[in-house]
Amino acid sequence: MIVEDKQPCNISGNGLEIDGLSLTTLADRFGTPLYVTSERRLRENYRRLAEAFSSSKDGVKINYAVKANSNPAVISVLRQEGAGADVSSIGELLVARSAGLSPEKILFSANFAPKSELEYAALSGATLNFDSLDQFLKVADLCASSTVSFRINPGEGKGEYPGITTAGKDAKFGIPADRAAEAYARAKAAGVKKFGIHMMTGSNVLDETYLPRMTSILLEIASRICKGVALRFDFVDLGGGLGVPYHADQPPLDIVKVGRQVVDVFSSKCEEYELGNPVLTLEPGRYLVADTTVLLGRVNSIKRYEKVFIGTEVGMNQLLRPALYGAYHEVAIANRPGEMRSLKADLVGQICENTDILARDRNLPPVEEGDIVVFYDCGAYGYSMSNNYNGRPRAAEVIVSPQGRAHLTRQREDNSELTRGTIVPSHLLR
Ligand code: LLP
Repeated sequence: MIVEDKQPCNISGNGLEIDGLSLTTLADRFGTPLYVTSERRLRENYRRLAEAFSSSKDGVKINYAVKANSNPAVISVLRQEGAGADVSSIGELLVARSAGLSPEKILFSANFAPKSELEYAALSGATLNFDSLDQFLKVADLCASSTVSFRINPGEGKGEYPGITTAGKDAKFGIPADRAAEAYARAKAAGVKKFGIHMMTGSNVLDETYLPRMTSILLEIASRICKGVALRFDFVDLGGGLGVPYHADQPPLDIVKVGRQVVDVFSSKCEEYELGNPVLTLEPGRYLVADTTVLLGRVNSIKRYEKVFIGTEVGMNQLLRPALYGAYHEVAIANRPGEMRSLKADLVGQICENTDILARDRNLPPVEEGDIVVFYDCGAYGYSMSNNYNGRPRAAEVIVSPQGRAHLTRQREDNSELTRGTIVPSHLLR
């Protein structure tokens, strides 16, 4: 498998390109480090997912998890395709609104939110998905005429790394299944008439049997609540978690199979438990955006000692996943596609931490200073987890249209960002 051909890139006479635009030209035009997103790939991902679940009797609702990539241009593309949004904070709510999503298309799922945030979200017209009963009780008076959902911890979860497994006894999220009926009963007693139910049990799952199995578990929990509390669910939200292959030789998820099996389990269990016709809802982040985007950075300098360290502009400040989880991202050199990978080296950033090693022991072409390194699959949890550590401004972002035109979607930060909002008290100015 030739790594360079991984989405959204292909090899051409000008080196590596995205939808007809050469990556080195983009790096020269917009500067580096630079996130480059393919609008074509984003639309393809949405359509493939929607199609895979289209056999659902009452359709499928897709709420894009904005935390994966909160660039308003990205959200706008998904809105045009038909997506709503899942947001986890007021900030994300405002970004989703700025991308043209109306409040009815937004689900607000915050973890340990203070009353003020919950009030804001409730008044905004978004649907609230509460992480615990006490969160609901903080704003019960604002929710009587709205749909109220609770996030359930079904007792088990699965994620590629422990840090992204979000259910099970060690997870801080949701309400344990055996405490869920109590929450719904309290909401009903407070006058709520419309309900949803939600889970989000882990991220980057490539096991095709997992979501169908968890769907069955959630519906069994839903049926106990329906019977115990005498209510109906308007929607059942299965969360995100659909995985993508970060390694070039990993097969992608067979989404048609997953979609068909989830829909089968969903319709047969809704019938068996007499749940009526709740809307099947998904909340994908990574699946829609991960492979739409590459991160480009220039090689600053190279150390050739016992090991070879290639120092680039892309550190854990621009792409945190390798340092935080040990995550793997494929890499290539934009201006050397197809060249023999005869060099073994670590790709590292400029941050003063030895976790700032973005790719270890990789086979690479004979890299030189000034070359452009390409990190693949950076569309999910890439820019959105980037930070200013070590006093480094964040990158710029560009989207490439299907016609091959590049649009700047986020300006590069400059150093003034690093002192913005800071105040030195007058007695310290002497
Ligand atoms: N819904 C909720 C409530 C979530 O918390 C998440 C992600 C999603 C949906 C979307 O999950 P996805 O489809 O992307 O798996 N930073 C980590 C991933 C953390 C996921 C957190 N929650 C990473 O870089 O791998």
